[in-house]
Amino acid sequence: MPKQSSSGTSTGNGAFEVTKVSNLNCIDLSSSDIQRSVSLLKQACLDCGFFYVINHGISEEFMEEVFDQSKRFFTLPLSEKMKLLRNEKHRGYTPLLDELLDPNNQVHGDYKEGYYIGVEVPVDDPEAEKPFYGPNVWPTTDILPGWRDTMEKYHQKALEAARSVARIIALALDLEIDFFDKPEMLGQPIATLRLLHYGGDISNPSVGIFGAGAHSDYGLITLLATDNVLGLQICKDKDAKPQVWEYVPPIKGAFIVNLGDMLERWSNCIFKSTLHRVLGNGQERYSIAYFVEPSHDCLVECLPTCKSEENPPK
Ligand code: OGA
Ligand code: NI
Repeated sequence: MPKQSSSGTSTGNGAFEVTKVSNLNCIDLSSSDIQRSVSLLKQACLDCGFFYVINHGISEEFMEEVFDQSKRFFTLPLSEKMKLLRNEKHRGYTPLLDELLDPNNQVHGDYKEGYYIGVEVPVDDPEAEKPFYGPNVWPTTDILPGWRDTMEKYHQKALEAARSVARIIALALDLEIDFFDKPEMLGQPIATLRLLHYGGDISNPSVGIFGAGAHSDYGLITLLATDNVLGLQICKDKDAKPQVWEYVPPIKGAFIVNLGDMLERWSNCIFKSTLHRVLGNGQERYSIAYFVEPSHDCLVECLPTCKSEENPPK
């Protein structure tokens, strides 16, 4: 079981607040000890559905380039960003407070701005009629030279990394290693890159102010790259009262990977998709989420290895 550590921080008014820090398992994609990777990943998926992935094939130099390009976008004047406002296909810019992830506990939308980049499907392609498929919107090259190339390259590389992670997930579920590689699954997936920028506001859960409100991701898996600023928290038991939130500290060069609701359901709730949120601590913070789902043609039904007479499909 992953260990937990905690440390205390003074809140300044004499109270002592406990800061819990999660100690997640770390999967090394370059390791030749596949059995060990499978076992670490399985333990993490049964426990909380969050783990780190290192040596995932994306160099730190390239990662830095993607973060630099992301910063260049968010630094543009609001009027320029608003020209690229997200469309009905969920492509483009999402302004501050645009998204409200946890309406029961938030007084405003999230204190973040974002930018969605999906799978590029030309308008005249019949596939473009499907939800989430269509052309992306891009800043012009005179404003942000090289931006589109960087983002398209990252989109491809992140998908390769996601496929590698999915192979270990398949083994952890006692499926064939290439189970998720089928054309209707991660062969032609719905994959969305989302650049995120938290502006340096201080969150205050007691009054409902959050960088990102509590939510679980919807899809199969999410690969999250973050800068070095602490902010992401997970809650392993959403029904606990009071809820216990643990920070997931960034590790340089690692992805934080989490399972989405679709995989929880697909695995008959054996694997977990866990509630998480982002607290702002006054520092600006950048993160890059990559959401992966199978294609529209994939039939999601209880996996054969996740059901039995005693444990029928839920
Ligand atoms: C998300 C998310 C966390 C972060 O975009 O779904 O949980 O650190 N992001 O930005
Ligand atoms: Ni999320």
